[in-house]
Amino acid sequence: MDSLLIKGGVPLHGDVTISGAKNSVLPIMAATLLTSEPCVIRRVPDLSDVSFMAKILTSLGAEVKLADGELRVRAKKIKPVGDYDLIRKMRGSICILGPLLGRLGHAQVSLPGGCVIGTRPIDLHLKGMRDLSATVTVDSGYVHVKAKRLKGADIFLGGRSGPTVLGTGNVMMAAVLADGVTVIESAACEPEVVDLANFLTKMGAQISGAGSPTITITGVKALHGAEHEVIPDRIEAATFAIAAAATDGEITIHGARPDHLSAVIDKLREANVSVERNGTTMKVRRNGRLKPVDITTLPYSGFPTDAQAQMMVLMTLTQGLSIISERIFESRFMHVSELARLGAEISIEGPSAIVKGGRKLSGAPIMASDLRASAALVIAGMAASGSTQVNRIYHLDRGYEKIDEKLRKLGARIKRVEET
Ligand code: UD1
Repeated sequence: MDSLLIKGGVPLHGDVTISGAKNSVLPIMAATLLTSEPCVIRRVPDLSDVSFMAKILTSLGAEVKLADGELRVRAKKIKPVGDYDLIRKMRGSICILGPLLGRLGHAQVSLPGGCVIGTRPIDLHLKGMRDLSATVTVDSGYVHVKAKRLKGADIFLGGRSGPTVLGTGNVMMAAVLADGVTVIESAACEPEVVDLANFLTKMGAQISGAGSPTITITGVKALHGAEHEVIPDRIEAATFAIAAAATDGEITIHGARPDHLSAVIDKLREANVSVERNGTTMKVRRNGRLKPVDITTLPYSGFPTDAQAQMMVLMTLTQGLSIISERIFESRFMHVSELARLGAEISIEGPSAIVKGGRKLSGAPIMASDLRASAALVIAGMAASGSTQVNRIYHLDRGYEKIDEKLRKLGARIKRVEET
């Protein structure tokens, strides 16, 4: 497995451009299954999750071409049964369930596997399908959903930890071809849900309210092909902003949507990091000494769970005490033990991590456990003195386009070590 070798202590300087959002492109790719006509998706990030989703679409019978950030899909004739092993391996692949059910009236998809960041149930996805009049059975590791005709319904999608992002997308994609009107209450408000709704609307769907907790969908008979450009990845932008602050550098982030990052920008400013917003660019640097801040992750527009690990690194570098509470995924503190190897002092009390910041971090071999934890460890390695080797970086390649290349352009001393 590849690893990253980082020589720390170099402030990041320069310009970086944000790629298309991973969490937008995956459900949008799934949505192309809703029509037999060709679809074109632009600003597609070069990620292993994207290639994986392309394989899943191909295995269902779609023609898929991916080159230079442009994806062309034609799902002329598709089958309702996904490849068991392909789907099981990537959680995001669950979002093919809604489109297959909507278009074919039947879908059989393997249950997505567990994940180190906590139990990741799909009960809300299945509740939504049932509410649309589908029968749902789970058998031999597969979920089967079936409906003669999907019927529009009032669906409450709030769960124990709030709304579900992919669940909202899945139900929306099933409902666009249902008979009548569907109203999703307690819908996820994430920008990626809005991006999906915009793509579906271009395909001929009738959707209003995306981005609010109530989404109304009026079913149509069929969807047609469409072209779409994916929104910029807000978590990638947040990661670079935090990395600039952590290394005491100064960078300009281009092609971002700062309006999708209000909670992150607000916390950075509270931590004494200057973030100058100007259209689609953000200039980030420390104002002086960092200040400790408390953070609680929440559904959008609250602080994103996907930026929690990175922000924890910043707090380990900040003199004082900060409390970071995780409200979305209960076990999302896998990075804590690895940060401790670099000298961070963090204790976990239930859903909160208490960070005693201001310790000097020094490089060590560490192990990436999930996508965002990996990004956090890379930031920590760049802020630490000496050398840090981040192992198992295939997690990073799932969700950050050419991150080592982008960081090197900003001056980071970072080298990919390929396993021979
Ligand atoms: C998406 C993102 C992920 C992000 C997460 C929360 C993608 C590909 N992934 O994941 O990067 O961290 O949103 O912003 O878009 N839940 C249930 N039952 C369900 C579904 C979810 O209880 O049926 C719970 C989850 O365990 C979690 C919470 O709801 O506690 C939110 O999860 P959800 O929004 O569904 O996450 P994903 O959509 O899988």
